[in-house]
Parts: sequence; structure tokens; C-alpha cells
Amino acid sequence: MRLSWLFAVFTFVPTNGLSPIDKIRNKLYTIERQQWDYLNDQQWRTSGSADIDLAKVFVSFDDEIHRWPLAAPPVLSSSWWKKPQKQVRHIQEMYATFLEFMRQQTEPGVKPARVREWLSLAASVLSDPKTAVSRAMSQLQKSILIDKIFHIIVQEQRKYYNRSELCELQVSPHQLIYDLYNTIVLAEIKGYAMMQFSWMLLKIYRPGNTTTEANSTRSHYVQSVLLTAQATRDALADANRELYRCDPLQHERGKTYDEIIRLLQGYIENEIDMNQESTCQQNCVNYKVAKNYGCFKDQFCSQQPKCKGTILNCTFVEADMTIAAANSKSHRRYEWIQYKTGRTLGKQNKERCENNDKCRKNFVTQHQVNSWWRWLFWHCSYCMCLCDDPENSDRYFSLKEVTSDIRENKVVTGIRLVKLDKVFHFQISESTLHQEGFVSPGSWLPIERINIDQQQNGVDYHTLSHIARAIDLDDVVAPTGWVLTGVRFRMLGSHLNLYIRITKFNFQTGRLSYNNSMWLGNDNTDASENPRSRLNLNRPSLPTRSAVALPVDSKHDQFMEFTHSDFDNDAAQSTVPFIDIQPLQPYTRGVLLSGAGVSHRGAVGSGGFVALKLFTYDYAPYVRARQPREPS
Ligand SMILES: *[C@@H]1O[C@H](CO)[C@@H](O)[C@H](O)[C@H]1NC(C)=O
Ligand SMILES: *[C@@H]1O[C@H](CO)[C@@H](O)[C@H](O)[C@H]1NC(C)=O
Ligand SMILES: *[C@@H]1O[C@H](CO)[C@@H](O)[C@H](O)[C@H]1NC(C)=O
Ligand SMILES: *[C@@H]1O[C@H](CO)[C@@H](O)[C@H](O)[C@H]1NC(C)=O
Ligand SMILES: *[C@@H]1O[C@H](CO)[C@@H](O)[C@H](O)[C@H]1NC(C)=O
Repeated sequence: MRLSWLFAVFTFVPTNGLSPIDKIRNKLYTIERQQWDYLNDQQWRTSGSADIDLAKVFVSFDDEIHRWPLAAPPVLSSSWWKKPQKQVRHIQEMYATFLEFMRQQTEPGVKPARVREWLSLAASVLSDPKTAVSRAMSQLQKSILIDKIFHIIVQEQRKYYNRSELCELQVSPHQLIYDLYNTIVLAEIKGYAMMQFSWMLLKIYRPGNTTTEANSTRSHYVQSVLLTAQATRDALADANRELYRCDPLQHERGKTYDEIIRLLQGYIENEIDMNQESTCQQNCVNYKVAKNYGCFKDQFCSQQPKCKGTILNCTFVEADMTIAAANSKSHRRYEWIQYKTGRTLGKQNKERCENNDKCRKNFVTQHQVNSWWRWLFWHCSYCMCLCDDPENSDRYFSLKEVTSDIRENKVVTGIRLVKLDKVFHFQISESTLHQEGFVSPGSWLPIERINIDQQQNGVDYHTLSHIARAIDLDDVVAPTGWVLTGVRFRMLGSHLNLYIRITKFNFQTGRLSYNNSMWLGNDNTDASENPRSRLNLNRPSLPTRSAVALPVDSKHDQFMEFTHSDFDNDAAQSTVPFIDIQPLQPYTRGVLLSGAGVSHRGAVGSGGFVALKLFTYDYAPYVRARQPREPS
């Protein structure tokens, strides 16, 4: 991978980067240690206000939790999440009750609770079999260490494309694991805090050796935390960071997909109109690159718009045929072509129009088109060719850069492709980056329109043609410590190529280093020493006809060419692949991103879709648990 140099140049070691949740836990360790130090002091313990002081500390710890920007936990319906989710809820409900009690004790002028109430609260946390927090905690631990739910997510990556829950949420497996880690660990922190504070209360009210039990609670917890962090890091290392949109159940042009129109289109032309002399002395195959010179004797040529551009790759199929011209509103020339022997190109829409002449008439106009003999020895054949005619063709890609406002500390949170006035554009959503990798919900920026006539081809936009119609399929990902702040297409030779802007940032403070930005892409070409490989389409039909979800069938460092659909299947009337225009934004709000990609979803016999990918940030280095320092 060409990007490897970058990793060497910008080796970035996240020094004080730690996930917020791991920071909160460290904070709790510190508080806990302090409190035990006080409690071990007989004088403090028996001062009469030790319980209220503890309550105050607990409330301020809760404020500490709320100081961190924590994203809402993901809403999942997968079966493996049911059990852990139940335990998380249970702990949270207990915590709310516990906190409420503690808060009440700290309110000025409130009559203090009786010892019995304090003890009953502690008992409900520690020993009541119905509510005991420790049971919920060990169940949560089990879901990660024994049921291995993160491992299940990694295994489900293979099915991601098949309208999986992750795909519907628009989240990468890596991001989901990180978010569930945060959800579970936050619940565990709350559970552990309740347990320790309960032991502390018992220490005040009940002479004896609660310290031993508190010790045992602690060592259990610490052990579990270390194992959980390790299991999470392992799963994060195996988990894909990419996300993309899956095929929708209903394809809708202009909403879920769009098309390049009339780049190379099947076109019937008589030999006689493809040479200046109006002769028929050659064969169709001689017209490899040709053009139209006129319309001989108002034959079929007068009944169809002529190809004003280049005519390519003509072949002779059969002499006589019926041509069903498409509705003038359609981007097709022909619905179908049926030759004398019965061979049919395209789909005859029999289902729709059977025994219904009116329907048939509305739908298509049929022409009888026959080749003829001239002077008895020259056959003036109708050829099946391709027409590359830029007029009335949607074949443009904007080359404008689309960037987030890094001076306002904004990063890219989502991307999509949009067709406006025949031109495909990138559109991004952007949002503010906060501390610890938290990103507020994104909003889509307006698109800078391109005017084909007034702006410059090759600079402002790219025009596809039969000689320049390739698009590179790449994954471009920034190294750790850099975040996605822009995208554009650039021209790499004659290929459209993805270029991303990345900006250095500080994970802890969330500040972008706005003079530390660069554009990044895969510079490899198909003519280099280790050339890009070509992704070929095999007799591509329209991808919208596929009932099943199409998997990604491209790899990094490939390219493909836009081409015409299959002759038999579609009379070569459409341009494939189609373009997926579904917006891509993790959780439909956005998360920290480190890269983007252009890929192809498809299968044998399908034109497939060119589609975008995003890469979420690599959190593995930030998931770290440490041992608490022992109470003295
Ligand atoms: C895709 O998902 C559907 C429904 O969830 C399932 O019936 C089908 O077998 C899956 N296909 C593959 C290839 O996994
Ligand atoms: C201290 O705890 C241990 C184990 O829980 C118990 O066996 C012992 O009786 C306790 N000692 C006192 C003085 O409560
Ligand atoms: C609790 O643990 C600390 C540190 O390991 C130790 O010094 C102390 O003696 C333990 N207390 C009891 C009662 O086990
Ligand atoms: C025309 O045919 C040649 C040879 O088969 C092929 O290489 C080329 O890609 C074709 N051109 C188009 C525009 O399909
Ligand atoms: C970026 O700008 C800051 C202040 O504006 C400056 O201190 C720093 O040296 C600059 N960094 C680079 C790489 O130019």
C-alpha cells in the first residue's frame, strides 16, 4: 500500500489519549482510595457526618461523569445484545435510585435519613438477591468474556452487506464495539461505585471488617476490567473500520441511486450513413470508430435522433428487425429490438402490455427496419453500434474540493454523491469536534453548483467519454491522530480518483491543528510497476433488477470503466455501474472519521453500483485499563 510512507513519516503515539470511560474509571479509583483513607481514620469515621460527606463525594463523582461528552448508546435489536442490555438497564435504574437518595442527603436543611435507611440502601446494592448489583456486573462481564459479544460483531462483518443491522445503523463494526464498550463499562463503573460506597457506609455503621469484603469487591472488579479492556482491544484489532450503505429494498432513481446517462449507448445505424460517399461497400465491423454523415432517403434514420458524437464498435446482428423506440422522456433510445429470427435485445415488456393495444402504443412506437440491397451486390446493412454523444448526456463529475471548516474546528461527519444539472458532486456533512473524539451531530453543507458551459473542463469538472471513463476504486485512510476534513475527485491520468483531506488533531482536547492539513490519495496507476488491477463487468444488466443485496466486489487499488449495459439484456441502452447516492453518515449523526473510499457493489451479470465508503477512527490505542493504586 502506497500510504505506508505516511505512517512512517507521521508516526504518532497517542500519549495521553485515553477513552473518556477509562478516564472516568481512573478518577473513581482515586476518589475511592481517598475515601478509604478517611474511613480508616477512626476519628473521621465517628465524627457524625461521615455518611453525609460520603454522599457529597458520590454526588460530585456523578457530576464528574456528566462532565464528559458521552454519545448516547446505540439502539440495537440483535439477540446477542438482549441480555447485556438488560443488565445495563438494571444497573442504571439502581444507580438512579442510589443517586437520588445520596443527593437528598446533601440538600441543605433536609432531615437526615435514619441509619436504618442507609443500611437498607447498602443492603439492596450488596446483598438483596433481587437487586444485587454484583450479579448484574458478573453477567455483563460474562457477556464480554464468555459469550464474546464483540467477537460476534467481528464475525458478522461478513454479512454486513446483506442489509445487516450494522449496515442499517450505518456503523462500522469497530465503532460499534467501541460504543458498546463505553456503554457496558459506564454501567460497570456505576455499579462498582455503588458497591464501594455501600461498603463504606457499612464501615461507618457496622463495626467489623468490611474492608476485607471491599477489598474482594475491588480485586474482582479490577481483574474483570483488565480482561474486558484486553478482550475489547483484541476485538477492535479484528474489526473493520469501514462502513457503507447496503442495497435498499426499493431502488429509487434520484433517491437511492442515479445514473450516468448516454455515455455509450446501443445505436442502430445503417452503413450507408456512416461514410461520406453514402456507399455500402463494407461491413458493419469495419466501422470501429465512425460518425454519422447524413440520412439516406429518409429511412429509419429519419425516425430517430442521430448520434452527433462518435459511433463505435459496430457489429452486424441480422438484416431485418422490429425496433421499439422508447418514450421520448426516457433516456433510452430503444426499449427493445427484435430480429427476424426472434432474437431480442432488451426486455419486451410483455407483462405490462399484453392484450392492451392502447398501453402498447403509449409505451413504445414500433418501427419495421429492414436492410436492403443496392445494385444487387451491395448490402446496406443496419449495424448495432455504440453512440458516444455528449449532447443530452449526464456524464460530468465535479472536481471541486468539499471541505469542512477547520478554523471552526469542524470535521467531516458524512458523505454522499449527488447529481445536479448532469454533474455528480460530493456533498459532505460537517460538525464540531469536541474533546475525547466526541463529534456533535452533523449537518449537510450546500453544494457548489457547476455550470458546464461557463466552467472549465478538466479543472472544475471532468467529462467522461469513450476514451476517458475510468474511476479508481480505493480506500484512503489517514494515520492515527489525523481526521477526515475534506473530499474531492481529482484526475489521475485519465482516471477519476478519490482524494481526501486530513487534518491533525489532539484526541484529548479535540483541537484541530488547522495549519496541519494535507491531501491524500492512492497515486498508483494502471501503468505503474505494480499496476492497479481492473475490475471487469461481465455482461452487466441493470443492478436495480437484483432482488438480493449486492456485496462489495472491489478491492483497494483497483479501477473500473463506466460502460454500456449488456446487449442481450438491455440493448446496451444504459450506462453501468449505476451510482449509489444514499447518504452515508454513521448513526445518521456522524462520528470521528479517518478516511473514505470508492468501491463497487456488484455480482456477475449485474452492472452494480459505484458507492462510497467511510472509515471510522481507530480507537484501539485509547482503550486502556490500569490497576488502581492500593489504598494505604
Ligand atoms: C441475506 O439475508 C436474508 C434475510 O436476512 C437471508 O434470507 C439470506 O440468506 C442472506 N443471504 C446471504 C447470502 O447471507
Ligand atoms: C472478618 O471477615 C472474615 C471473612 O469474611 C470473617 O470470617 C471474620 O469472622 C470477620 N471478622 C470479624 C471480626 O468480623
Ligand atoms: C485490603 O487490601 C490492602 C491492600 O492489599 C491490605 O493492605 C489490607 O490489609 C486489606 N485489608 C483487609 C482487611 O483484608
Ligand atoms: C470496442 O471493441 C474493442 C475490441 O473488442 C474493445 O476493446 C473496446 O473496449 C470496445 N469499445 C467500447 C467503447 O466498448
Ligand atoms: C501552526 O500554527 C501555530 C500557531 O498559529 C504555530 O504555532 C505552529 O508552529 C504552526 N505549525 C506549523 C506546522 O506551521
